[in-house]
Amino acid sequence: MSSYGVTIAGIGSYVPERVLTNAELETMVETTDEWIRTRTGIEERHIARPDEPCSAIACEAAKRALAAANLKPEEIDLILVATFTGDKTLPNTGCYLQHRLGAVNAASFSMEAACSGFIYGLEVGANMVRSGGYRRVLVVGAEKISSVVDWTDRNTCVLFGDGAGAVVLQRAPLGQDCLLAVKLGADGRYTELLQTPAGGSLQPLTAELVAQRANCIKMEGREIFKLAVNAMCDASRTALEQAGVTADQIRWVIPHQANLRIISSVGKYLGVPEEKVYVNINRFGNTSAASIPLALDELVRSGQVQSGDLLLLTAFGGGLTWGAAVVRW
Ligand SMILES: CC(C)(COP(=O)(O)OP(=O)(O)OC[C@H]1O[C@@H](n2cnc3c(N)ncnc32)[C@H](O)[C@@H]1OP(=O)(O)O)[C@@H](O)C(=O)NCCC(=O)NCCS
Repeated sequence: MSSYGVTIAGIGSYVPERVLTNAELETMVETTDEWIRTRTGIEERHIARPDEPCSAIACEAAKRALAAANLKPEEIDLILVATFTGDKTLPNTGCYLQHRLGAVNAASFSMEAACSGFIYGLEVGANMVRSGGYRRVLVVGAEKISSVVDWTDRNTCVLFGDGAGAVVLQRAPLGQDCLLAVKLGADGRYTELLQTPAGGSLQPLTAELVAQRANCIKMEGREIFKLAVNAMCDASRTALEQAGVTADQIRWVIPHQANLRIISSVGKYLGVPEEKVYVNINRFGNTSAASIPLALDELVRSGQVQSGDLLLLTAFGGGLTWGAAVVRW
């Protein structure tokens, strides 16, 4: 039962300074700018510094979201970081972020749903606010994927980038709610399609496993592609129906940025014209849990989202996990 509604009080994002171009990748693995652009839509991605962990990337996005919400760090009472590339397995990255930010009054944790992490985080954070336990929840999608990329594997190293996006969710009167509907899903039969095989409790790291780069991302791209389009479209249709909204009422579809061809197919199957489907994969690659808030922040800051606009967010990722959310801005 909800005691309150929830609004988005502010949004922010950040990408590390260093840009890695397709031309540079051509010198690292057997690939071409042409292949990467035509098969994925990616032209460049941002890569964090060695001394810039996930929490540092998250912190920059969080500071910008707090500034947009006109709030001080100590006014946040819960931090939730969605990531699969946290600073360490233990402790959780939320605590590193809390300390960096000076959010001394915030309970802090991280959660992992790969590329769907931000939509999962929104649902969790919004319900923490609605239940009345928390007034202001900072939800951050942040990744330093470059730290788990096998830079010798052309199948994956061209795809990913680092970055973060954050929103501040804030208590509102009951009946006033920005999150009209959320549909989440998962299918654990497909855990092997996208994984870091070693480094967890199933296969703790050994020198041999590190030499085999078994702690890095392994992916069956073609299989994921097919599943991704269906799952995002199904979740989107369900979320739209639950929200009582039709696709033509949506101002922007903001899909997870994994592959331009996946994004275009989702837009097409949902019957949403191309110009309403936001794309920035060309500049950032796949930033996993960061991609949706990064895209939304760009739209908001460039004045392309107005108060009252309806947005459809949809994502898909390792797990497999997926989700869709209808937001009234
Ligand atoms: C990874 C992906 C871009 C590959 O595109 P694709 O059109 O499916 O390509 P395929 O896997 O069929 O590979 C085609 C060929 O290109 C080759 N190839 C793969 N990466 C390459 C690269 N960077 N440069 C050049 N050639 C490459 C493959 O080795 C394969 O060669 P082969 O036919 O000789 O075996 C695409 O499948 C994809 O984006 N999948 C979804 C991945 C995803 O979203 N992951 C994250 C989930 S959030």
